[in-house]
This record gives sequence, structure tokens and C-alpha cells, in this order.
Amino acid sequence: MTSLHEAGSRPPTAPPVDTEYVRFWNEVLAPKFIRFRHILVDGLTRHSEAVFPKLPVRPGDRVLDVGCGFGDTALALARIVGPEGEVVGIDCCDAFLAAAEVDREQAGVENLRFLRGDAEIALPEERFDFVFARFGTMFFANPVAGLRNMRRALRPGGRMAHIVWREPADNPWLSMAKEIVLRYLPAPGDGARTCGPGPFSMADEETVRKMMEIAGYEDIRFERVDAPVLIGHDVRDAIEFQLAIGPAGEVFREAGDRAEARRAEIEAALADATRRQAAAADGIVMPSSSWVISALNPAAGL
Ligand SMILES: C[S@@+](CC[C@H](N)C(=O)[O-])C[C@H]1O[C@@H](n2cnc3c(N)ncnc32)[C@H](O)[C@@H]1O
Repeated sequence: MTSLHEAGSRPPTAPPVDTEYVRFWNEVLAPKFIRFRHILVDGLTRHSEAVFPKLPVRPGDRVLDVGCGFGDTALALARIVGPEGEVVGIDCCDAFLAAAEVDREQAGVENLRFLRGDAEIALPEERFDFVFARFGTMFFANPVAGLRNMRRALRPGGRMAHIVWREPADNPWLSMAKEIVLRYLPAPGDGARTCGPGPFSMADEETVRKMMEIAGYEDIRFERVDAPVLIGHDVRDAIEFQLAIGPAGEVFREAGDRAEARRAEIEAALADATRRQAAAADGIVMPSSSWVISALNPAAGL
């Protein structure tokens, strides 16, 4: 996979060293995301398919997808912009990009390329018409830096949209399991390894609006999208997913041997709560809620 450094958008100095968060995505989260791809892609897609038809993307546009993961939104955007347009997907995780490249090739989509890079450090300076991110910006340790880089990747007058989770109370698919696990295990300490601030770091409208203003955006709009998401094909799948990924997974992982010692009790409590959730054709679903935040890169630039 070509790195952003090799692609020439940075001066020819030594390549940047991965941050602790980028190492965490590659070393810890990648195998778990690959294992539970069937849940994650379904869940995340429900929040983008509601807005995709409304995105200001036209045939011929050049689009950047930040934190593109397995590349399914980048692929969808490449189809919208068509052969006259181009999409670049960028992510910091090698395994996700490798999977994305396989899908791109199988789909025979030629106007899409993937780059390996850290959006907080640099993004391609190619003056894109539109910059998109689905559930990626919440992991920026320095959100203003990442959001500013996204704005600088836009042409003057170009727009961006990023999708982030709203507050935990409106996302029981992530928060319920954490509350249960915390009945048995301590909260992670300050030294816990993480992938960044986490899924709810951009839930507060006022805070994110301020960050985006500081990053130089104008015409900042918030749209709420609610959707039921799959949490597992069955109860076992749902429990394994919750103990591997997300806020409950973090508590469980950080507790180490203590967690293993209490695994049976924790799994029983999770199974009990999971059985009470709604059933759908493909498994168990729970409510979730996101913000679609869109904004303009002012024509004057900053
Ligand atoms: C929850 S996943 C979402 C993936 C994809 N956008 C989707 O909706 O399926 C978050 C993604 O952001 C990427 N990511 C996190 N921090 C990043 C950073 N600083 N630079 C680039 N990618 C980042 C992760 O590797 C991961 O693929």
C-alpha cells in the first residue's frame, strides 16, 4: 500500500513514525474488526445510506474518504463520481487497506486508490471537491488538527461531511454492554492502551461546532440520524463482539486476568440483556444514533 509520504504530499524527509493510536489500530483492533466485519459494516452502513443520496457529490468530482477502513464508502463514492471523477481513501491501518484494495479490484473500480497515512499529521493536498469521513474523526487525539487537515484538502468552496456517534444514552448498542461489564470489572485506568478518544468524543454538538470553527469551517450543520444496528447474528455472536470491540471490549481487555476470571458471570449477564433485544431477519438489533456534520471550506481560505 502506498503511504502518503511516498505519494509525495509530504516533504522528502524521514517517514513519520506511527503514533501509539495508529499502532493500536494496527496491532490490537485490526484482527478484531476483521473478525466482526459482518456487524461493523452493516451497522455503519445504516448511518451513511441515509445521507449518501443527499451528499453534494456529482459525476466528475474528486473526493477524499478519511479513515476509510474496509473501503465500502470509498467504493460507493467512486461509483457516484464515475470514470471522470476520482476517489482517494486514506486510513492508518494496513490490514483494512489491504482488504479494501481486494474489494476494489474485485469490483473492477479504476477511479479509486487507497493511501496509508495519519489524518492528524497530513492529508493529500489535492484540492478535493468533497471530503468525507464515516466514524473516523472521533478517534483523532487532536481533533482540530485532523479537521483542519481535512479542510485544507478541500478546494475553496468545497464541502465536507463526517458522521460520528451521538451520546451513549442514544447508543445502547455500545453503552449497554459497557454498563454491564463495569458491574464486574474496574474502569480502565489512565494508562490504558486505546485507539484515541473514542466513539463518543464528538457527541456534543456545541463542542464539535467550536472545534470545526477553529479548524476554519463555515456553514456547519448537524443532522441527527437514528437507525437500528445489528449487534450479532445470535446471542453468542453479540457477546463475543461486545467483549472484543468498543467501550465494553476496552474494559474487558484492560482488566486482563481479572476479566478472564469473571468471564462466565459477565457472559451470563450479557446474554440475559441481549436476549431482551429486538430480533431482525439477520440477527439481533439495537438502537443507535449518529450526527451527520457537514461544513464548508470558505472560498477565501484561511
Ligand atoms: C470505526 S472505523 C470506520 C471505518 C470506515 N470509515 C467505515 O465507516 O466503515 C475508524 C477508522 O478510522 C481509522 N483511523 C483512526 N484514526 C485515524 C487517523 N488518525 N488517520 C487515518 N485513519 C484513522 C481507523 O484505522 C479505522 O479504519
